[in-house]
Amino acid sequence: MTQLRLPCVVEVGCGSGWNAEVLARLGEEPVRYVGIDYSPSMLAVARRAYPEHRFAQAEASRLPLRDGAADILVSGGVLMHLLDYRDAIRESRRVARRWCIFHTVPVMMRRKTTLLEKRAYGSPTIEVIFNETEVRRLFEEVGLRVRHVLPNIDYDLEDILGERTVTKTFLCEVDG
Ligand SMILES: C[S@@+](CC[C@H](N)C(=O)[O-])C[C@H]1O[C@@H](n2cnc3c(N)ncnc32)[C@H](O)[C@@H]1O
Repeated sequence: MTQLRLPCVVEVGCGSGWNAEVLARLGEEPVRYVGIDYSPSMLAVARRAYPEHRFAQAEASRLPLRDGAADILVSGGVLMHLLDYRDAIRESRRVARRWCIFHTVPVMMRRKTTLLEKRAYGSPTIEVIFNETEVRRLFEEVGLRVRHVLPNIDYDLEDILGERTVTKTFLCEVDG
């Protein structure tokens, strides 16, 4: 329950837009969903699958939306792919009016935030594994208060990083 009437939910890194369906099926109240992704092919799939929703092409760090346009901004498993993750966190905060959800963030406790490279979405892609204390500090610095942290899918890179990694979802409330 969001306790918001017909909230506007913006998902950044929406991919095929399937979270629109998740929200519609699981939520008790209807939402206005807007999906944003930088990939034209992902957006083509999303528009075909969910013609009733709006989708736009943009970079996570430069959203074509006014301040506070989203009641709830969902950063949909995209933070890990952004070299400019600091800008993207700031931009998420700018666009979120009430809540910001950073979904599926890979974290570890001891190592500093570390960049890896892999091939995904048809091209070389970076993957950021965050030091949890550091990413929480970045949220706080832009005015996002971490209210809940939920465990997410298994993603253990101990073989590569020498330390167990997991993914978490951070539910943050916009300050003030
Ligand atoms: C792991 S998928 C997540 C898809 C969906 N949100 C989910 O939860 O299943 C990450 C998505 O982020 C998009 N993406 C990657 N880098 C991006 C960027 N710089 N700006 C916007 N979207 C980006 C990719 O195209 C991909 O659709």
